[in-house]
Amino acid sequence: MDAIVSVRNLTKSFGPVRVLQGLDMDFPRGKITSIIGQSGTGKSVLFKNIIGIMTPDEGSILVDGEDIAGLPEGEKRRVRRKFGYAFQDAALFDSMTVGENIAFPLREVLGMKDRKAMQRIVREKLEWIDLPGIEGKFPSELSGGMRKRVGVARTLAVEPDILLFDEPTTGLDPVLSESINALIRRVNEEFGITCIVISHDIIGTFHIAHRIGFLADGAIQAAGDPGEVARAEHPILRKFLQNSFTDLRLDCEDEEEE
Ligand SMILES: Nc1ncnc2c1ncn2[C@@H]1O[C@H](COP(=O)(O)OP(=O)(O)OP(=O)(O)O)[C@@H](O)[C@H]1O
Ligand SMILES: [Mg+2]
Repeated sequence: MDAIVSVRNLTKSFGPVRVLQGLDMDFPRGKITSIIGQSGTGKSVLFKNIIGIMTPDEGSILVDGEDIAGLPEGEKRRVRRKFGYAFQDAALFDSMTVGENIAFPLREVLGMKDRKAMQRIVREKLEWIDLPGIEGKFPSELSGGMRKRVGVARTLAVEPDILLFDEPTTGLDPVLSESINALIRRVNEEFGITCIVISHDIIGTFHIAHRIGFLADGAIQAAGDPGEVARAEHPILRKFLQNSFTDLRLDCEDEEEE
């Protein structure tokens, strides 16, 4: 496999709490990989180690073959430019307009100064997420789904090689969740950007991901394409999938009653 990111023996504790205990995972270049697992298992911690804002206790994070875990801060910043990310509680800056939000990383990360060029990129990205012309609006004037899409536009603006999404669909209704999943698919297909997605949305994950890793007890317990993971025998995974599908059935029953 041509992995753009390879995690090896990643170990991370907080005081007595051992969160990751020797985690291995490969993220294939140009594909969508999802990490699934119960709340509190360390998915966001994995994510933060990958982009180098948290330092592993042990292990390595290879990005294009370069181990970022041991790099000095300045070098880390250079590697970090390959990534775009949308955090779990990804907030737009409320005091800035949509346009200013999208232009922010262009200025701060890429050091762009040309206002016209930045405006053009902002316009292009808004068109691309099907929200043309909302540059002047403030985040408070947008719906939750629109804010998430603007968040994606902001990360796309700097043209990253790898985009990480931490719970991109949490808090959205099923229709909006699907539109965000479709957006991730488009990001991957149209720009060839490698996507790493952490998600509670099991059904959506099985639809969009090329590769899935199941995180439990500090390590990846099963990994493979969606079919392989769906069939894997690991007992915690079986229970996790069963619970997710039970939730889905309950949702359907609710709908039938209406
Ligand atoms: N900066 C930190 N300091 C101390 N403990 C932390 C820190 N970050 C995470 N943890 C702990 O690490 C564990 C894993 O947290 P993490 O946020 O990675 O879970 P998660 O799998 O992303 O959960 P969720 O699905 O609810 O987002 C938790 O027990 C959390 O309390
Ligand atoms: Mg999390």
